[in-house]
Amino acid sequence: MGRRKKLAHFQDLHDWAHVYQPKFDDDLNLKGSWGNKVILELACGQGAYTIALAQIYPDATIIGVDIKGARMWHGARLALTHAKNARFLRTRIEELERFFNKNEVDEIWITFPDPHPREGKAAKRLSSARFLKIYEEILKPDGVVHLKTDSTDLYEWTKQSLPDSGWKILQDIPNVYGAGVYDEILHIKTPYERRYLKEGRTIHYLLFQPATVFSKFKKSCMVAIAEPCSNHI
Ligand SMILES: C[S@@+](CC[C@H](N)C(=O)[O-])C[C@H]1O[C@@H](n2cnc3c(N)ncnc32)[C@H](O)[C@@H]1O
Repeated sequence: MGRRKKLAHFQDLHDWAHVYQPKFDDDLNLKGSWGNKVILELACGQGAYTIALAQIYPDATIIGVDIKGARMWHGARLALTHAKNARFLRTRIEELERFFNKNEVDEIWITFPDPHPREGKAAKRLSSARFLKIYEEILKPDGVVHLKTDSTDLYEWTKQSLPDSGWKILQDIPNVYGAGVYDEILHIKTPYERRYLKEGRTIHYLLFQPATVFSKFKKSCMVAIAEPCSNHI
């Protein structure tokens, strides 16, 4: 992309009211401002889930979170005409507690995060204990986290490490596009996902929440096997 176009995109992000780019010393008073039903897409890139979920849940606020503005611009532009309830927050995921109150978020989607395969980098994985603590803090008492990944290593590692961090798995789908799995939301495809599918990779899904929760969410939100389900919130 040329320099001019890049600058124009950054000017758009600056001008659009549904895009928040907080500076390190300014939280923009966002805590508590998001609405009654709040769903986050973390590592949103171009925000495919953010836009699609905003269309499926017009009464909820869907917020795409990523550090990279150039990617986010694509989703933010689409939101202008196709998803008025979508928002974009440009920040590091490590900083989420600056922008969300305790118990403010209903659901978190983590879509195709970097797997950080080297063991020394495990703390950078978005399903590591350090991040789970942040999610637990901002999630409502019966809130849940969805993880979609092409990385078998990250999927297996997350499954193993969740119980040690005090989380339980509500649903485990080893192959999202395998026989018998159908779900409108689970089958939303992100740009990275489309690329991985072309390469023949298997897509994995996990749904989890803090183990302390006695949840009613389980039945209504679990992805249906062999029948459509969009009753997530
Ligand atoms: C592999 S891409 C996936 C993008 C998108 N979800 C998709 O599937 O097309 C991972 C994204 O995570 C973002 N990311 C990684 N670590 C992050 C962090 N700590 N805070 C915010 N964004 C992060 C990157 O900027 C990148 O856009």
